[in-house]
Amino acid sequence: MLSFSECKDKIESEICKIPFQSFKPDELYQPVAYILSLGGKRIRPVLTLMACELFSGKTEVALNPALAVEIFHNFTLLHDDIMDKAPMRRNHPTVHHKWNENIAILSGDAMNIIAYQYLCRTKTDLIPELIDVFSKVALEICEGQQFDMNYESQPEVSLPQYLKMIELKTAVLLAASLRIGAICGHAPEAEKQNIAAFGLNLGMAFQIQDDILDAFGNEKEFGKSIGGDILAGKKTFLYLKALEMAKDHQKQELSRIYNDKALLPETKIVKVLGIFQELNIQSMAEGVVTQYTEMAMKSLQAVNTDKSKGELEKLAYKIMNRKA
Ligand code: IPE
Ligand code: IPE
Ligand code: MG
Ligand code: MG
Ligand code: MG
Repeated sequence: MLSFSECKDKIESEICKIPFQSFKPDELYQPVAYILSLGGKRIRPVLTLMACELFSGKTEVALNPALAVEIFHNFTLLHDDIMDKAPMRRNHPTVHHKWNENIAILSGDAMNIIAYQYLCRTKTDLIPELIDVFSKVALEICEGQQFDMNYESQPEVSLPQYLKMIELKTAVLLAASLRIGAICGHAPEAEKQNIAAFGLNLGMAFQIQDDILDAFGNEKEFGKSIGGDILAGKKTFLYLKALEMAKDHQKQELSRIYNDKALLPETKIVKVLGIFQELNIQSMAEGVVTQYTEMAMKSLQAVNTDKSKGELEKLAYKIMNRKA
């Protein structure tokens, strides 16, 4: 089975070949070239290639659909960064900061369409199912993103509501990345289901780890501004768990600071992180990441194939321990 870096190299060299630099108008396509050139882990398209190989021994059929998944993911980042008022991504200015919001909206729209074009550049008989899966997940991501936005100003958000929100905004895309690979590898229906279940659990671990890194990560490694979720008033796993664990006075203090619009950004971040630390929230969150990773491993064990699953296992542990 191809390793993570071999799969990533395949994706990277295909992305490099697309001449977005020379497409016109520049204002529409330069941001596309820019965001796709900034690196990124390429986890989703790698999952697509690995799933295809797991069932067919080859990756070729899944190559364009894998590019579709990565281009679509990057489109969601352009719009997400506007919504989250994020200044930095992959250690560079976000598209709406480097250009402006209108540019980020329209370049994102173009990437969404280009993603569909790549999805359909594969075996004709696979296209209806691929479009079906892709469209379903695209809509679920919109639903998750809307819940994420709603929760910023909704005072009472439960942990189950949070878990559903991250399933929609993040986990379903990892699940679909694998399912798309499995479709391209002509996997039986039951195995498509099993590999998607692996992706869903992996995706839950992935987003909770993202919440942890947003608060406790290293800015250079993570590539995004630390404390962004706190400043945006996001109902993250850390915040909701802290509210659950806090005693009455601390609970009031936390929600007062979180909702205080007048506090200096730096002060707000320091105070919230202080409360998270007092309550030992980081290690609780890490425990939940481990639980979802273990559930992912169980789902992977259920996948019936004669090929090795070792690289997917390695990738799951890599996600669990990631710092970027
Ligand atoms: C960022 O995804 C969006 C989330 C779902 C947290 P990644 O962490 O995979 O971003 P890149 O593509 O590697 O930059
Ligand atoms: C990511 O959630 C969800 C999507 C991009 C669809 P975040 O808002 O936490 O992602 P980052 O942290 O900005 O990458
Ligand atoms: Mg964001
Ligand atoms: Mg967001
Ligand atoms: Mg985040």
